[in-house]
Amino acid sequence: MSIYFNNAATTWPKPDCVARAMSDFLGSGGANLGRGTASARDLGTMDLVLECRERVARLLGGYENASPVYVTFTANVTESLNIVLKGFLKPGMRAVTTSMEHNAVTRPLRHLEKNGVELKILPCDRQGYLDPEKLAAALDAKKADLVVLSHCSNVCGSVQDLEAFAAVCRERSVRLVVDTAQTAGLIPLNAAALGLAALCFTGHKGLMGPQGMGGIVWQPEFARLCEPLVEGGTGSFSHVETQPEAMPDRFESGTGNLPGIAGLNAALKWIEERGVDAIRAHENELGSRFLAGLKKLDGLILYGLPEMVDKKRLSVFAVNFEGVDNGILAAELSSRGLETRPGLQCSPWGIGRWAVFHRGRCASVWAVSTPPLRSTKRCRSWPIHWRPYAPQSCRRNERAGKLIVPIPADTVCRDFFVRNVPRGTSATNVFRRRSGFGQVFCRNFCAVYTPFLLYSPHPCAIIRLRIK
Ligand SMILES: Cc1ncc(COP(=O)(O)O)c(C=O)c1O
Repeated sequence: MSIYFNNAATTWPKPDCVARAMSDFLGSGGANLGRGTASARDLGTMDLVLECRERVARLLGGYENASPVYVTFTANVTESLNIVLKGFLKPGMRAVTTSMEHNAVTRPLRHLEKNGVELKILPCDRQGYLDPEKLAAALDAKKADLVVLSHCSNVCGSVQDLEAFAAVCRERSVRLVVDTAQTAGLIPLNAAALGLAALCFTGHKGLMGPQGMGGIVWQPEFARLCEPLVEGGTGSFSHVETQPEAMPDRFESGTGNLPGIAGLNAALKWIEERGVDAIRAHENELGSRFLAGLKKLDGLILYGLPEMVDKKRLSVFAVNFEGVDNGILAAELSSRGLETRPGLQCSPWGIGRWAVFHRGRCASVWAVSTPPLRSTKRCRSWPIHWRPYAPQSCRRNERAGKLIVPIPADTVCRDFFVRNVPRGTSATNVFRRRSGFGQVFCRNFCAVYTPFLLYSPHPCAIIRLRIK
């Protein structure tokens, strides 16, 4: 059985009640929302959606005493952030953000920048934190219309001091929008108490719901200031030819993901029954064990805070191994039953910074994001003493100027990462130049190779060997 370490991308497995609720909706409910209000089936859908809005408002601190009216649903937090940023920011306005953002924030902001919005990116420190004083100084130096930031980095698990940021913004009357993709369901949140203009969430990570669900908890006044990104049928005010002003309809045109709402509703009930603090305590315990195991590994570079400090860090870990491409390492780990995520993690600003920290010596790319399972008993069984042999052997062989990596007897196909290959070098020349390779070749392997550039700043190649 493989063990899933990619919960920062999406949590899995979900509580059983999630799939059951979705199946029940499709199998025995199934009516559209507001496109029929007479039958019990229609009313069932209305009740379901209202119940889910109420749960979101309770869990995330909705405005006007957790009113469901100021919760709108989207497909994911990316859509939520696009709605908020593009709905509010106009040419001539100024937005401030951090260097640890996900592309869900980065890309809409870059798009807006091209259209005349001024953008200020504040650099986080090496562990992925922004000092609230720096935000205060930036806002004092030049007024901004909006601050947008991720509560927790999906790369290294750094949790920003949201209370302090909210206070800084409140004192200066600057609107604050927060991406809670990694924290909703794991850290208590209260949009109204913090005075957030908008709290954007996704349903499929810490909230344990299905993919394709997200949403926004709105400050009522801010919702009035935002232009809807999509207009159309809402099942309400049909006599009016323009988009309704009324919430939540203003931001919900077209048929929504109703099976997804059924699943999210069940997941939120599951979270309510357990409690956010208990879930986080469980995850912290797993994270501490995992971190302790990671620290024992030779040649491992860990980014972010090296301790599990409650509410300062979640169990999302970014690591790098010298001398091996993490894409290949992830494939190797996967073949041994550990599912991790290599790559840029959709966060080029943060990861790019670490490449520089590492004196440009990263063999290639980058982080493996390995949060433990958040939900089920199965997570208890993961091995914290796993020792990937590839990095060690690669380093050893590199020192010897060889390319050989130990190949298990049952290997059918293996990829090798070769670094410092000048751009344009043919694979044949790579073979010739690396003496160690000949030995592998002689042992009845033939080579199928694909020289190509990874995301690395360094030229590199992948060589694939297959048993003859
Ligand atoms: C911090 C952060 N923001 C935004 C996103 C985008 O989430 P979604 O794909 O659900 O829109 C993610 C997902 O990895 C994330 O971790």
